[in-house]
Amino acid sequence: MPSQFSILVIDKDKLSGDSIVSTLRPYSDSISLAGSVDSFTDGDCAMQRNAPNVVFLGVEEIEQGIKDVQCITLKYPMVSVIACSSEKNSEWILALMRAGAVEYLLRPIAQEELKQSLQKVGRFIFKTPSEETPAGEIIAVYNPIGGMGTTTVAVNLAAALAEEGTKVALVDLNLDAGDVNTFLNVNPTYTLSSVTSNIERLDANFLMSVMTRHASGPFVLTEPLEVDEAVSITPEQVRRILEFLRGTFSYVVVDCVGQLAGCNLAIFGSSNLILFTTTLSLPALKNTKRYLTAMGRKGFNSDRVKLVINRYLPKSDIQIKDAEKVLGWSVYQAIPNEYADVVDSINKGMPVVKLLPRSPISKAIQGLAERVKH
Ligand SMILES: Nc1ncnc2c1ncn2[C@@H]1O[C@H](COP(=O)(O)OP(=O)(O)OP(=O)(O)O)[C@@H](O)[C@H]1O
Ligand SMILES: [Mg+2]
Repeated sequence: MPSQFSILVIDKDKLSGDSIVSTLRPYSDSISLAGSVDSFTDGDCAMQRNAPNVVFLGVEEIEQGIKDVQCITLKYPMVSVIACSSEKNSEWILALMRAGAVEYLLRPIAQEELKQSLQKVGRFIFKTPSEETPAGEIIAVYNPIGGMGTTTVAVNLAAALAEEGTKVALVDLNLDAGDVNTFLNVNPTYTLSSVTSNIERLDANFLMSVMTRHASGPFVLTEPLEVDEAVSITPEQVRRILEFLRGTFSYVVVDCVGQLAGCNLAIFGSSNLILFTTTLSLPALKNTKRYLTAMGRKGFNSDRVKLVINRYLPKSDIQIKDAEKVLGWSVYQAIPNEYADVVDSINKGMPVVKLLPRSPISKAIQGLAERVKH
């Protein structure tokens, strides 16, 4: 069992909560108790104060349970939730896991199961010394609305970082309209859903066997081809996949879009860098302002969230310094508008940085890659 593992118990059923605490007492040198409370409000305070790794959450009613799990995973993306209940119904298990719980324990909780569930969670949070390799950097490329060039930036950044044998993964987590496949003209046999449906087998060998290496360098993991398969990917699964990739690759570039919730929060929670990609139009900047503020409220600040201006035209009405002033955020990198080169690259299924390395857009992306490398 890893050291410095801290747990919080939130359970109205006092007996059940106490039994978890007493089962784990003999392991107090490796597991510390961040609290044991009987209401969600008290639990929330304890999470804020003590930032536990794992929360055992007692569930009496399914709707409330789902809400509570979602609330915890949204607010505290790094917390793993283990649901505990007296209900055997498989619908409950599925619904709670989909909401973001990592495990489901049936009361009365057997000592062995409790330990196993913690060991499983621990594997994803901690590494044993023999497994220790320098952790890779996770870079999310994000715009909530889409159409601003996140895929263009993600695909090209991944290819630029993959120079000189650096191991790079490119993950399309644009779950219902991903287009990394199209940009790279690949049609992989395995997708994210192959990984999530085999999540228990997740290890470095399995991951490498399902990822496709693109000629431009990065190993790609893309969205499921069937839209309905994407729905079943949970934030916890996303987090596990990313943490695993971090152990194998030096850089993991993630293409993501959509609301500040669920899987996106899991991605951001794991990310070292979030490249918020936008253009310099008024509506785009208005949305950028709203989202940067909301991200700041969730703890994703300018030390992690960097602004990338795509389709930049030096002669546009709105200049970079205007945007910086309005947003209160400095621009990390501007990527010029080079429509013909981008379209040529998409049609050929090869990133611009490889196809046309001397194009101004390629130079800017190479600059971005240098900056990411520090
Ligand atoms: N720097 C650029 N210069 C010129 N055109 C660009 C540039 N970046 C992107 N584009 C164009 O904008 C289109 C949208 O870009 P892209 O698909 O990368 O955006 P996205 O944010 O991933 O969109 P989606 O919401 O569809 O996922 C591309 O098809 C491309 O033609
Ligand atoms: Mg896209």
